[in-house]
Amino acid sequence: MLLFKRVEEISRFLHLSKQNSQRLGFVPTMGALHEGHLSLIQQSKAACDLTVCSIFVNPTQFNEASDLDKYPRREAADIAMLVEADCDILFLPEVGDMYPADYAGTPEFDFGLLDKVMEGAHRTGHFAGVAQVLLRFLEILQPDAMFMGQKDLQQFLIVRSMLEQLNSDVELVLCPIVREPSGLAMSSRNRRLSPEQQELAANIYQTLLAAKKWRKAGFRPPEIQNRAMLHLKKIKGFQPEYIEVVETKNLQPIDRFQKGQETAICAAVWVGEVRLIDNLLFE
Ligand code: PAJ
Repeated sequence: MLLFKRVEEISRFLHLSKQNSQRLGFVPTMGALHEGHLSLIQQSKAACDLTVCSIFVNPTQFNEASDLDKYPRREAADIAMLVEADCDILFLPEVGDMYPADYAGTPEFDFGLLDKVMEGAHRTGHFAGVAQVLLRFLEILQPDAMFMGQKDLQQFLIVRSMLEQLNSDVELVLCPIVREPSGLAMSSRNRRLSPEQQELAANIYQTLLAAKKWRKAGFRPPEIQNRAMLHLKKIKGFQPEYIEVVETKNLQPIDRFQKGQETAICAAVWVGEVRLIDNLLFE
C-alpha cells in the first residue's frame, strides 16, 4: 500500500495513474477503522482499478469541540488493517494542507429541507463541514467513484445533492450497513462504550426491527415513533434524541405510509455519553 501525506504528492501520483485510464475509487473515512469501513474498500476494489482511502478527522464537521477531542485516533492499527485489506493507497493529510490559509473555501450549497432534519437539526454546521471536506477531497483526488455507507443515510443524501449541484459525474455508491453479531451497527464511536453498554446498544437495532413489524401490523408512522421512543427510554443509560419515520428520498417525516413510497426509520440515541445513529429501510 502506498501512503501519501502531502496533497501535492498524491495529486501528482494520481494524475499519472489517470493518464493510464485507471478507474479510481475513493473511500473517505475519519479512521478508527472497522469492518464497515473495510466493506467500502472491498466494494471499491471490486469496481475500480485503484482504491484510495483517506483518513482525516475533519475539524470543520464537529459541532462540539469535546466530540472532536474524544474522537478515537488509531493510526498504526488503521494502517495495518488497510494493508491487510489490500487497499492500494492511503491518504493521510494534515489540517493545514487540507485547508491552507489561501484556500478559496466552499461554495454555498442549497440542500433544501435535507439538512434541516435529524442530524442537520441536532448538529449545527455538521453537513456544511462534511460538504466542505468532501469537495476538497474531490478536487485533490478527482475520483471516478466514491463509496459511502447507508449507516450515515442523511450524509449520503446530502453528498448526492452536492454532486448534483456541482454537475459532477462522480459515481456515488451506497454501501449496506455492517453490523456486529448482536445487530449493533459498527461505528468508530462504539469503542467508547463499555462492554455492558455495547451489549445494551444492540437494542437500537432490535427496536428498528420491531418498528418494521409494527409497520406490517398496520401502525402509522407517529405511533411507530412513539412506541420506539418509549421502548428505548426504558433501557438503562439510554436517551433517544430522535426517532423518525421518513420518506427515504428527502428524509421528511411522514404521517402515513403510501403505496410505492420508499420509507425508512432513523434513530439517534445517547448511550451514556456516546451518541449513536442507525437506520433501517422499510423496503
Ligand atoms: P466515518 O464515520 O469514518 O465513516 C466513513 C464511511 O464509512 C462513511 O461513508 C460511513 O457511512 C461508512 N460507515 C460507517 N460505519 C459503517 C458501517 N457499520 N457499515 C457500513 N459503512 C459504514 O462519515 C465520515 O467518516 C465522515 O463524515 C467523512 C465522510 C469521512 C467526511 O469527513
